[in-house]
This record gives sequence, structure tokens and C-alpha cells, in this order.
Amino acid sequence: MTADELTDEMMKGEDKLVKAVSSSPMRGEYKKAVIRRIEGGRFLLERYTENKVFHTPFGREELEKCLKTQVICDFKQTEVFFTDSVLTVLTNKKGTITVKRRRAETLMDAAHNRQKNYLIKEGEEVPALKDLGVFTAENKVAAPMRDKFRQINRFIETVDDALRDPPAELTVLDFGCGKSYLTFLLYYYLTVKKSVKTRVIGYDLKDDVVEKCNATAKKYGYGGLEFVKADVTKDRLYGEKVDMVVTLHACDTATDYALDFAVRHGAKYIFSVPCCQKEINERIRGDGDFSIFFEHGLIKERFSALLTDAVRAKALENAGYRVDCLEFVGFDASPKNLMIRAVRTGAPTTDNEELKSLLLKYNARQTLLSLADAAEEQEVRNG
Ligand SMILES: C[S@@+](CC[C@H](N)C(=O)[O-])C[C@H]1O[C@@H](n2cnc3c(N)ncnc32)[C@H](O)[C@@H]1O
Repeated sequence: MTADELTDEMMKGEDKLVKAVSSSPMRGEYKKAVIRRIEGGRFLLERYTENKVFHTPFGREELEKCLKTQVICDFKQTEVFFTDSVLTVLTNKKGTITVKRRRAETLMDAAHNRQKNYLIKEGEEVPALKDLGVFTAENKVAAPMRDKFRQINRFIETVDDALRDPPAELTVLDFGCGKSYLTFLLYYYLTVKKSVKTRVIGYDLKDDVVEKCNATAKKYGYGGLEFVKADVTKDRLYGEKVDMVVTLHACDTATDYALDFAVRHGAKYIFSVPCCQKEINERIRGDGDFSIFFEHGLIKERFSALLTDAVRAKALENAGYRVDCLEFVGFDASPKNLMIRAVRTGAPTTDNEELKSLLLKYNARQTLLSLADAAEEQEVRNG
């Protein structure tokens, strides 16, 4: 096969091209090169020296040239991954090219292998995972990150289930994104694997993490991924159409602000894993039916957390969402493992009066309900 014939074949399947990984250099200073699809029909060339990696985003018009030099001329061996097939291209010093083709691993294959059940797999070349410390240099999950990796994969699987028929474009906000493992992987999954034109904004209080995450997004040419320093309880946030709101262990009432934001902006999807639900625990008391739950600190804490999430789930239903509460990972991966999954189905069905009376009876209050009241008052004022 000639270099031109091979390039033509690869370009014909360009829409299915996922990445090409080249090794064993024949010339030049780079030990390895990877071409991978990124968002917006663009690509990223990663070139590795002994101790550095250089990233160059480029457009489709340069793909043919890049494949020809990278895959065929500069390296002895390249694996070219399409969604349905894999080519192994071997080029010798005389320029003779041999190509072996095999079927790509399918979802059916994956079902036979527990590790492969993850949508993002260990060993997969996912840009940013090494920068975030989730993968080691050999693309293995770093030991302290095993639970986090599991949580994020499960989170993305839940999103994937809800997006069986994904829209062409999505805007996603992540409240309390922290080091942004979820934010990066969700963005990668939606843009690269699902080919959805995605804009993701991660909000966090911490300057340093926001700065680092923005630098990492830039490094990989992730133009639709942005991090903003903001206090979600009081700062002005994104003002345009929002399709999905996610939270993973956003602290205490930050979760309520995320849920309320989603409701006010008509977000179709909410995926929220709450944590440190202190608000009810700090105030709840009374002699009524629940008093047995207040006798031991640990039980009171757990009861309050469950009551908080039950109130949130009901308030979202009242606001027009179909809601499920899922155990999204096992207790061993995280004790904070309850996910509220909500899909908007229609207009608000009822008010929150029953919920408010219940909480009042036990001296408790809940921010999501207060925010809903404040929004209603504002609507009345606006006429
Ligand atoms: C436990 S971390 C979780 C981070 C990330 N979502 C994850 O699961 O790895 C909670 C994050 O929420 C952020 N956070 C808490 N309150 C916030 C607020 N009011 N506004 C913005 N971010 C907040 C914290 O700075 C922290 O990074």
C-alpha cells in the first residue's frame, strides 16, 4: 500500500477517527505522537520528547498532512483508532507500508469485562487525566484516585443513560467543581465520545484551582471548557440557556443554590450528589414523631442528611421535575453516595407548603425552599 492510498483510506473514515498513536520514531526528536479528536471537529497533536509534551490544536484541513507525516513517514508504528475499527500501520526504513485491520471493541465486548464497563477506561489516553493526577504516566489509575475514578465513571454513566438521544449542543454548569475531575471528564466524554458541541462552566470559590483548571483546559485546546471563581450562593452566574446542572459533593447549601439555579433557568437535567448537609442538623429539634432520631449525634446527622435530600427531591418534583434518588456508587467508594437525578417534564405542579410545615414543626429550615420562596416573591414584585 502506498502512503497516498493509506492517507485516502484514513481520510474517508475521518468522521469516525478517534485518535492515532505513533511510536518508534524513524526521524526527528519526538519519541511518540498522538493525534486525537477534540471538540468542534478539531484535532490535537501531542508530541512527546523524553521529558516534555507539546500540544498543537489544528483544524480538519490540516488532518491529511498531519496523518501522512505522523502516521506514515515519521514513525515505524501507529495504531489508528476509528469508532468501528483499528488500523495498525507499520512503516519500514525503505518506506514499505503494511496495514493490519481489526474490529474495534464494541459495547458488547465491554460487557464481558468488568473494568471495561467504565465509560472512561483505565489505560485510555484521556488528555488532562495525568495533569489532574488521576492517571499515572502509564495511564494507570493512581492508587489514591481509585474511588474518585469510580465515582466519576458512575456519574458519567448516569448522565449517559439520560442522554440516550443526545442533543447537538449542551450547556452544562458544575457547581463547586473543585479540582474538576468530573468537569474535565464530562466535557471530554460529551465532546469527544458523544460528539456533542458542549460548553461546560465549572464554578468554585478557590482561586488557585480555577487558575490551574483553566490552564489545563487551554493546554488541551478545550475551547468550550471554562472555570470561573465564584461564590455560587451570591455571585452572578451564567445568564443564558442552561441544559444541565451537575454537582458532586458541593458543600452543604451550595447544592441548594445549584438546584435552585437549575429550576430558575429551566435546565432539563440535574445530576446532584450532595454532601455535608449541615443546615437541618444544626437546628432540628422537637418532641414529635421524630424525637427518637435526635438521641444520638450520629443518627441525628444521618437522619438530617436524608431529610434534607428528601425535601430537595420533593421540591424538585413540585417544580416540574421527574426525580429519582440513586445509590450511584457503593458505600465503600464514598459514603456520600446518594444522587438526585432530575429531568424536567413540565410546569411546576404544586407549592412547597407541606414541606415547609413539616420542617417548621421541627424548627428546621431548608435553603432550597427559602430560595423558591424568594423567587416567587420576586415574580410577584415583577408583576
Ligand atoms: C468536596 S469539594 C468537591 C469538588 C469536586 N466537585 C469533586 O467532587 O471532586 C467541594 C467544592 O465546593 C466548593 N464550594 C463550596 N462552597 C462553594 C460556593 N459557595 N461557591 C462555589 N464553590 C463552592 C469548594 O471550594 C470545593 O472545591
